[in-house]
Amino acid sequence: MVECKRLAIAISGRGSNMEAILRACEEPGYPAEVVLVISDNPSAKGLETADAAGVTTASFRREDFNNQTDHEEAMAKAIEAAKSDLICLAGFMQVLSAEFTKKFEGRIINIHPSLLPKYKGLNTHARALADGAKTHGCSVHFVDATLDGGPVIAQMSVPILPDDDEESLAARVLTEEHRLYPEAIRNIATGEITFPNNQL
Ligand code: GRF
Repeated sequence: MVECKRLAIAISGRGSNMEAILRACEEPGYPAEVVLVISDNPSAKGLETADAAGVTTASFRREDFNNQTDHEEAMAKAIEAAKSDLICLAGFMQVLSAEFTKKFEGRIINIHPSLLPKYKGLNTHARALADGAKTHGCSVHFVDATLDGGPVIAQMSVPILPDDDEESLAARVLTEEHRLYPEAIRNIATGEITFPNNQL
């Protein structure tokens, strides 16, 4: 039997990917459980959702710490205290330092709304539309010190339709994100996907 992995999820806002992961964790036999949700934004809507689901939550506002190192140390302590096996960034809007990503190497993943390596960073939907791209999508990747640059774990593509605007395209991609992220977590938890030279 596969051991159940303990997930810490980091959010900054809406938290719809977090919700998709929480839903997946309710499925019988899903090999992970959410033990902690952290946010850098105490007003994040996703925190209310996590609270309502009975998940432990904690907020770490960047402004409450002297520097990024102290901020990240506080988050790392909470993650370690919760005995998290895997950290899932889900709309977490802080760029993490090389020290932090190295500390959790192979145990920290992110979902990004583009077919990486295309459109790293922000405003991915607008950029894909401006380029006249025919396809777009989302990626789950291991997080390293480079922005949206770590090894890709899984991707899902969607068509860009002639009438699409940013909103319609974002919605089509988001639907796929909600399928892709729980599936990628499942594959990591079962050991089907491993970080290069590392095991969970
Ligand atoms: C998603 O599009 C995700 O790919 C990106 O930030 C957005 C977060 O949305 N990293 P939500 O908070 O999960 O609803």
